[in-house]
Amino acid sequence: MFSSPRRSRLVPSRAVAVPLVLVGFTLLAALSACQGQKPASDSSSGSMTAAADPAQSPVERGKYLVTAMGCNDCHTPWKMGPQGPAPDMSRMLSGHPADEQLGPPPAIAGGWMVGGSASMTAWSGPWGISYSANLTPDEATGLGAWNADMFIQTLRNGKHMGTGRALLPPMPWMWTKTLTDDDLKAVFAYLQSIPAISNQVPDPVPPAGGMGGAPGGK
Ligand code: HEC
Repeated sequence: MFSSPRRSRLVPSRAVAVPLVLVGFTLLAALSACQGQKPASDSSSGSMTAAADPAQSPVERGKYLVTAMGCNDCHTPWKMGPQGPAPDMSRMLSGHPADEQLGPPPAIAGGWMVGGSASMTAWSGPWGISYSANLTPDEATGLGAWNADMFIQTLRNGKHMGTGRALLPPMPWMWTKTLTDDDLKAVFAYLQSIPAISNQVPDPVPPAGGMGGAPGGK
């Protein structure tokens, strides 16, 4: 049957047959390459993006993330130094200093929206005044009484303590929510490992006339 004249007339010309053979080899090569890789991908964590170094502990991973994501920009009070303002690492991540004396927030006009304190931890804008939280493990004034679940919920949902009021600007929870559970757990593990600093951050102040009114309610 395969040697029937009708069939042999359908055999492709040499010019067509060569590329077809090449395609066949390429498919075979791709297939065996896939099979060769299978055990490797099965034993991997399954995630190809932002993979943690397996030799890193969660605390080390958390330190890396907190440092690179700029949590110190807002949660560590800044002070004036020889090169200009810089984070005061002796008060690392302890939030807005309770003893900082602040006058009324600046009147904002001319296309400006945000007023920031000298410590970079108090923020005024259409939302009123927000104060960067104490992220150290102090029980009474920091995150000492928090658990990892509450922390993950907070940085995912943008809600105070995970389920409360909406978090105010400029806390960038819309970006921290993109972290994996493992990375958020690592950030929490690191924050629980740093020196506890007792510092009671004030509650936020709502705007005078609702959102869009004068910042600070004054
Ligand atoms: C641009 C400034 C800014 C940056 C950067 C920032 N935060 Fe915040 N964060 C704030 C402010 C302001 C608040 C207080 C918001 C409020 O009271 O609603 C806050 C609040 C928080 C809270 C407390 C939430 C609660 O339930 O009260 C946590 C936890 C937190 N930030 C973690 C982080 C972590 C972790 C990072 C780094 C990934 C980070 N923040 C980066 C400004 C910032």
